[in-house]
Amino acid sequence: MKERKWWQSAIGYEIYPRTFFDSNGDGVGDLPGIISKLDYLEKLGVTILWICPFFKSPMDDNGYDVSDYYQVDPVFGKNADFLNLISMAHQKGIRVIIDFVLNHTSDEHPWFLEARTNRKSPKRDYYIWRDGKVNAEGKRVPPNNWQGFFDDSAWNYDEVAGQYYLKIFSKKMPDLNWESPALRQNIYQIARYWLDQGVDGFRLDAIAHLAKDLTWSDSPYDVGPDGTTLDSRKFSSIPRLFDYLREFKTEVLSRYPNAMAVGEVGGCATTEEALKYSGTDKGSIDMVFNFDSCWENGAYGSEHKSDEEIVANVVNLKHIFLRWYTDCRAKAWLPIYWNNHDHPRVLSQYGDIHFRKESGKMLATTLLFMYGTPFLYNGEEIGMSNVDYQEIRDFKDVSAMNYYKNAQRHMTEAEILRFLRRTSRVNARTPFQWTSGPHAGFSTHEPDTKVVGNYMDVNVESEEKDPDSILNFYRKAIALRKTPKILEAVIGGEFVLVDSEHPDVFAYAHKGATPLMVISNFRKFSATFKIPFAIKQILLHNYPTTEMKDGILTLRPFESYLLELSPEAKL
Ligand code: NOJ
Repeated sequence: MKERKWWQSAIGYEIYPRTFFDSNGDGVGDLPGIISKLDYLEKLGVTILWICPFFKSPMDDNGYDVSDYYQVDPVFGKNADFLNLISMAHQKGIRVIIDFVLNHTSDEHPWFLEARTNRKSPKRDYYIWRDGKVNAEGKRVPPNNWQGFFDDSAWNYDEVAGQYYLKIFSKKMPDLNWESPALRQNIYQIARYWLDQGVDGFRLDAIAHLAKDLTWSDSPYDVGPDGTTLDSRKFSSIPRLFDYLREFKTEVLSRYPNAMAVGEVGGCATTEEALKYSGTDKGSIDMVFNFDSCWENGAYGSEHKSDEEIVANVVNLKHIFLRWYTDCRAKAWLPIYWNNHDHPRVLSQYGDIHFRKESGKMLATTLLFMYGTPFLYNGEEIGMSNVDYQEIRDFKDVSAMNYYKNAQRHMTEAEILRFLRRTSRVNARTPFQWTSGPHAGFSTHEPDTKVVGNYMDVNVESEEKDPDSILNFYRKAIALRKTPKILEAVIGGEFVLVDSEHPDVFAYAHKGATPLMVISNFRKFSATFKIPFAIKQILLHNYPTTEMKDGILTLRPFESYLLELSPEAKL
């Protein structure tokens, strides 16, 4: 097999520590809790853990608001617990990457506390300060019409500082000023510190936004009732960003050649831009997460639609994977994933809770045999699904609450509730379902985020016992992907869509010495699919029998196959 970087053949797994496993009964997940589940993760077969932030934080955004990058927040444990976690994971051949938040800090970070109180301090320049404007009524208003990602102005006025500061997420998360060389050096030092402690790399949070449009000019888009508009081009993939990343590479990554860096570029980067971030020639990091494939289930923008009107666009979905593959192949590496802690559960998005087993397994097969490094999100492997909350106040999340404030202007409570159940990121953040016991076995204490009502049936304990469970299917599929022959076929062959315009079936193949094909029905109804190739063997299947006549497969709801084709197959 061709010489590859370790992370190209790895299987990633994202852990949201707050709701993964609580070892000390305070209702919050913690690092010792993760340690106690390492055997489970080893048995699942994952080889990289991406752990969402667990550093000191006032928890306005569950740890994405860091107030001390060098200390583990007491709610998650101690620094020693993290070092222990790294070493125990390493003993099992599992690597650990941390979520590095470098676009902003908490407003309780000592840098910000100093910056806001002392205009003359060098720390003032670590953040972005502007004077406001005065509107026609003589009232002070923000410097421009930019909206942040959490549904309000990108600026917040600070009484102590006497100026506005930029904050493209919550107001407790002031953006850092990457134009400041001293700030950048501080960031590099933090990164090197954790690499020296043994971490294997980083997921770089909100990396697309480090550089801003320094003209600070208004967006030409139409503004909403609060005078703001979300125009992410004002702070996404701005050319200057790539200089910062080159420096990050020189100062950090190139000194640790085994470290891996995956950047979150979200919905804000094209494939062309992705090559600038992670192209093997001029890029500075190893790969980027975009969100394109997370948004094709029809839920976004569906405020006034009934559940029946929400239909996944399977053709678009296939073409998104194909486009990223075609544009990046041989030029940049790709992570592949269904979703993460910022998205609803994939089982509810592209699967169906009424066909939990079938659709959970179908999603596993479709993802795990695609080109790139798979990243699973905790709970996906047991078929966890979206929340069944009946009250808006159960959506304990700063972005959901900001959304609610604005949506009340044009939506009923019932519509808002339905929309949050479909799209809120809280869906992904409910306590992990370990058992059918109290609080789903996540904790002995009532967690502040409610468990999903189906935990009695959907949990690790019961899936362990069921040889036909989604969990056991994931284990099998991951083990299969890791076998050298299959891995080589998946990442060394050539990915092609088959019958790419089929409206219901996602089918793809890998050309090469071991031709493989995946055929997945994404619907809760049957679909037919013509197989134009000779089949050598069925490697994975989520139904006990096959319905095929004259080369035409009848696929039952969410039926899915991984096939090895005959080497003569003309793909
Ligand atoms: C992206 C993270 O994934 C999200 O959870 C967080 O709210 C924002 N960045 C801000 O850090």
